[in-house]
Amino acid sequence: MKKVTQNQYGDTSVLKIIDCDKPRITGKAEVLVKVQYSSLNAIDWKNRKGLFRIFSGWFSPRSQPGFDIVGSIVNKSDDVNDLEIGDKILSLLGTLKGGAFSQYVIINAKYAIKINPSADETIFAGLPMAASTAWMALVNHGKIKRGDKVLINGGSSGVGHYAIQIAKHYGAEVTAVTSEKNEAFCRELGADNTVDYQNEKYIGKTEQYNIIFDVVSNSSFHEIKPILAPNGIYIDTNMSLSLIKDLLIHKQVKFVSVHPDRKVLQEIVQMTEFGKLKTHIAKIFPMNNITEAHEEIEHCHTVGKIIIKID
Ligand SMILES: NC(=O)c1ccc[n+]([C@@H]2O[C@H](COP(=O)([O-])OP(=O)(O)OC[C@H]3O[C@@H](n4cnc5c(N)ncnc54)[C@H](OP(=O)(O)O)[C@@H]3O)[C@@H](O)[C@H]2O)c1
Repeated sequence: MKKVTQNQYGDTSVLKIIDCDKPRITGKAEVLVKVQYSSLNAIDWKNRKGLFRIFSGWFSPRSQPGFDIVGSIVNKSDDVNDLEIGDKILSLLGTLKGGAFSQYVIINAKYAIKINPSADETIFAGLPMAASTAWMALVNHGKIKRGDKVLINGGSSGVGHYAIQIAKHYGAEVTAVTSEKNEAFCRELGADNTVDYQNEKYIGKTEQYNIIFDVVSNSSFHEIKPILAPNGIYIDTNMSLSLIKDLLIHKQVKFVSVHPDRKVLQEIVQMTEFGKLKTHIAKIFPMNNITEAHEEIEHCHTVGKIIIKID
């Protein structure tokens, strides 16, 4: 079988497509998945460049490229009773493991969530990491509720475009910070208001928000605090020394750290199957063109998700 590997940090030339043996079920609670689609996340290019060395291995990467999986079960260990060979599933691989850009992957059955067998797989492929991040930020950390005023900095991003829809699903009033070219896109997803970051600064506004979800992380909490309601929650997606300091000092500051969570994956699959969570597909790249896909996402102007076709 073929898979994408990365044994050193660097530019896209460190990504190699290799031939290797198909993995085999050896443990309990495992399923072997024939992967059909995956997606790219900003974390992929950051990992490739070694921006998370402190977690991912100082000298060389411990984790492999790709975290999102949509495919069919082709084998399972004897103790797996709630999944059958042939089931179509979605899953998220742990950020310290990865390896989704591979024709076959073994995953923990607990994180294999069944999807509608007749559905178009591409609409699920963008979900696992990006929509889990948005859900964990707004629901788990933000405790979002009807009527909340929510600001999403980076509304057109993979994470942000799901966050707008999840916040609207919970009955919030949503303001999306985005560029002028993407204002209509964010409004179509449900945003009530937009702020064009190229012409206006959202941090200078007088309006206060119950939740500020920062997918861009280009302002400090000190700058953001005046527009956060007294009991409001600020959730950041990118770790930094100043964020560590703010996390220690301010109860209102949170960091979302995405990880496989069965309940969250089930929620985002259900929302998608009910037509409440849509994936905007920016482009679909075959796995053979993984370097071009990385170059595209690294520009940081992808609207929605880049899907990777594996098989
Ligand atoms: N902590 C975690 O567990 C976790 C999990 C997932 C992701 N993340 C982080 O979350 C961030 C988003 O990831 P992603 O995969 O969603 O990224 P992405 O899709 O690559 O983000 C690209 C989008 O960001 C928008 N953007 C760029 N600069 C902006 C600005 N100054 N203001 C508003 N929007 C701006 C771009 O729109 P324009 O073209 O209009 O600029 C584009 O649509 C990344 O930093 C990633 O590392 C963290």
